[in-house]
Parts: sequence; structure tokens; C-alpha cells
Amino acid sequence: MGAGKSTVGAHVADLTARPFVDLDRSIERRHGPISELFEQGEPQFRRIEEGMLAEALAGPQSVIALGGGAVLSPLNRERLRAHAFTVYLDVGIETAWTRVRGSRRPLARREDDFRKLYESRQQTYAETADAVAEDADDVLLASLAVSFSEVVASPGPAAILADEHVAELHPLPVDAPLHRLPAGEGAKSLAVVERLWRELTIGRDGTIVALGGGSTTDVAGFVAATYLRGVPWIAVPTTLTGQVDAAIGGKTGINTIDGKNLAGAFHFPKAVVIDPAVLATLPEQERRAGMAEVVKTGLLGGRPVWELPEQEMIRSCAAYKAGVVLSDPYETEGRRAWLNLGHTFAHALEAGSGYRVAHGEAVALGLLAALRLSGQPTDAVEEILRPEPAEANLDAAWAALKRDKKGEGVFVLLEAPGSPVVTTVPDADARAALASLVRQ
Ligand SMILES: NC(=O)c1ccc[n+]([C@@H]2O[C@H](COP(=O)([O-])OP(=O)(O)OC[C@H]3O[C@@H](n4cnc5c(N)ncnc54)[C@H](O)[C@@H]3O)[C@@H](O)[C@H]2O)c1
Ligand SMILES: [Zn+2]
Repeated sequence: MGAGKSTVGAHVADLTARPFVDLDRSIERRHGPISELFEQGEPQFRRIEEGMLAEALAGPQSVIALGGGAVLSPLNRERLRAHAFTVYLDVGIETAWTRVRGSRRPLARREDDFRKLYESRQQTYAETADAVAEDADDVLLASLAVSFSEVVASPGPAAILADEHVAELHPLPVDAPLHRLPAGEGAKSLAVVERLWRELTIGRDGTIVALGGGSTTDVAGFVAATYLRGVPWIAVPTTLTGQVDAAIGGKTGINTIDGKNLAGAFHFPKAVVIDPAVLATLPEQERRAGMAEVVKTGLLGGRPVWELPEQEMIRSCAAYKAGVVLSDPYETEGRRAWLNLGHTFAHALEAGSGYRVAHGEAVALGLLAALRLSGQPTDAVEEILRPEPAEANLDAAWAALKRDKKGEGVFVLLEAPGSPVVTTVPDADARAALASLVRQ
């Protein structure tokens, strides 16, 4: 009571595009005011609540705000265990009491009763919950098993797949065989995957731990998806790009001779462990590349996340990505495509420069083009990322753009900050926008 279940729940539902069910409100709509139901006795109310929860759990995947006493019912707890990811919103008793005092809630009339109730329920909440959270971002992160900490304990039989450079800088204190991968993008090849299929000795009860940037988590996740028909994996991202984007969302894969990420699988990691301290050794260019994804995320979410202290910035971006992924886990609804804001132009510039323009620089320019086509201010991109026109061949970039979009002319634009749309852009406008990014 007073933890903010209705507010946070509605927000999480909005960010994940799922229906929101406020169980108490649903009960009141069908059976009348809860205070009156309580007067007929709590057991009677709990039975109604059990029925309504069963109904909500049987419906489409949704976000459900439970009443504060719902988890007291063993039947409800069993159903939650079987059918839900349950989060305990713990804001502390002082905050909770401040919010509910003076309300008409039947169980919140006197402070000492409220405190007793809170204490008596504490343990049941902790036992029932799959995660503890304070706000919507916590809920989104917990739902995709993203946590902020150092990696300390060994997760059982494991194999570490690490970027060879990162393995030297940030060795994991985990007792497990270490398999070194080429640093960066060079690891995303079939040859590396084949080598790992042969080298790995863990069984199906083993876990692959990926230590490195997006290249490492992409290839290690793909190995985890395919080795022995799939084993669980844990991502430990060590670049800013990895922490705000690449390690979250279950997309794994490698490059083929025909292009980037052309072979892969959806295979969600069982945990993503983010330790922002490892970024201390990140080269400036990699940081800039990560900041391009941060600015992209801020524009998509409509929040100037780049103004936050680093750890909060990473947390906010990771949570935004988690929300979009949860709204469209296997990219069937189109919402995951939002994450390509600026990327259609970026990929074109990368190809049109023979891959001499780095991804981060290309994304910064791509965001500029997307904002211009959207009629939105470009100052955030210009001030934070300071993009310079690219040394690229315009015709080659245009040809790549047309190939990338398979001739459909589909782009992600912003109706306003925080409101992405997938839409078409006439060729002439798209080409002019691209031309404005290339040094003439
Ligand atoms: N799966 C996804 O959803 C997704 C999303 C975005 C990007 N990606 C992929 O991620 C890849 C790019 O990954 P990236 O940008 O994270 O970089 P990266 O993994 O390619 O690494 C870049 C360089 O940084 C070094 N490095 C990594 N961590 C370091 C640290 N803590 N200190 C010092 N050096 C460090 C590496 O050795 C490497 O040389 C691309 O292949 C891209 O396709 C995937
Ligand atoms: Zn990118």
C-alpha cells in the first residue's frame, strides 16, 4: 500500500506497450467499492480477488498491479509463480505511510496498525517476488535480468568468452576456463564460432559468460544459442555501447562475407551484469560511439539522459532499451525498429566510405539527418556529438541506403522527442538529407 503500484504499473505498461490491469480497480468495477466489500469480511474479498487475478493472468500478457494483500493468498502466490514475473515495489515504510495517510483505504486508518501490517507482510513480499524495485526503470531492468554490480561469484559450471584485450584489463574473478576472442568486430566470424564449438567443454548445465563489448556479446551469445543446441549465457558488457544497447535484448549474431549481422539468433541472456567502473579504460573513440547510442536513446525516450551522471545515464538508457525489447521481444511488431533511429543513414555512410567512417560517427550524422527530416531541433546532437561531414562517396552511400531498406523507403523519425514513428520518406528528401552529411 502506498508503494506506487498503480502509477509505476501504468508507466511500465506504457513503456512495454502491454495492457495495464489495476486489480483493485477491476474488482471495484465489477463488485463495487472495496471498503464496502471489506465490511462483508476480508475472506470474502480475498476470494473475489483470487478470481480476478486468475482472470488477469489468463488474459493477454499484461502488467498487473496487485492489491497490497493479494500475495497473502497461497493460491495467488502459486499462480504468480507459474504465470508471472513478480516485482516487489519497496519504497520504505515512511514514504508509503506519507502517501496513504488520510486516504480512505480500510487498512490504512491508523499509523501503528499500518506499520504492523507492513512488517507482518514484509517477508511474504520478499519470498513471493522475483525482484525488488523502487521505480519503473528498476522493473524494466529486472524483467530482463539486468543488474548493476561487479561480477563476483561463479555461476556454477561456466566458460568465459572474453575479448582478449578486455581479458587483460578486467579479468573476471570467476573460476572457469577462459577462451580469448579477437578484440572487437573481428570476433564476429564463423571461424571464431567454429573454434569455440570445438574448444568448449561445458555440458548443457554450463553457462557461457561473455566479457567484452557488443562484438563479444554478439558472438558469445550466438555461440551460446548454438552450442549443444543452446546453453544459458550471462553478458558482462564492457563498452558504453554494450551497456546501454548491445548486451540487452537477446539479439546475437555474426557477420558473413555478404555483410554485418547476417547470421544470428534471438537468445536472451539469463543475466546482464553492468559494472560502469570498467569503462574507465575505454578509449575515447569507443566512448564517443557509445554516446551516439545514448543520444539516440534520449531522443527516442524524450529525456536528456546525456545530462545525467554516468551511472544514472547508463541505467536510464538500459531501462529504455529493456522497455522497447519487452514491447516487441522478437521484432515482430515493429517497435524494436525504433532503435534504428539514425541508423539507416549511418549504415549508408559506413558502406559509402568503405567502412572508414566509424559506426559512432556515422550514427551521430544519421541522427542529424533523422532530426532534420523530422523537423526537430538538432542542438542536442550537435552539442554532445559534434558530428563532422563524412568522407564518403555519395552515390555509393545512396546505393547502400536503397539496399539497406530493400527499396521500401522506410525510416524511423520523431514526431516529437519521445514519439518515434516508422514512416516513409520520398527518395528526393532522403537523398538530400544524406548529401548534407557528406563532405562535398
Ligand atoms: N545485439 C545488439 O542488439 C547490438 C546492438 C548494438 C550493437 N551491436 C554490435 O556491437 C558491436 C560493437 O560493439 P562495441 O561498440 O561495444 O565495441 P566492440 O565490442 O567492437 O569493442 C571495441 C573495442 O573496445 C575494446 N574494449 C572493450 N571494452 C573495453 C574496456 N572496458 N576498456 C578498453 N577497451 C575496451 C575492445 O577490445 C575493442 O577493441 C557491433 O558489431 C554491433 O553490430 C549489437
Ligand atoms: Zn548503433
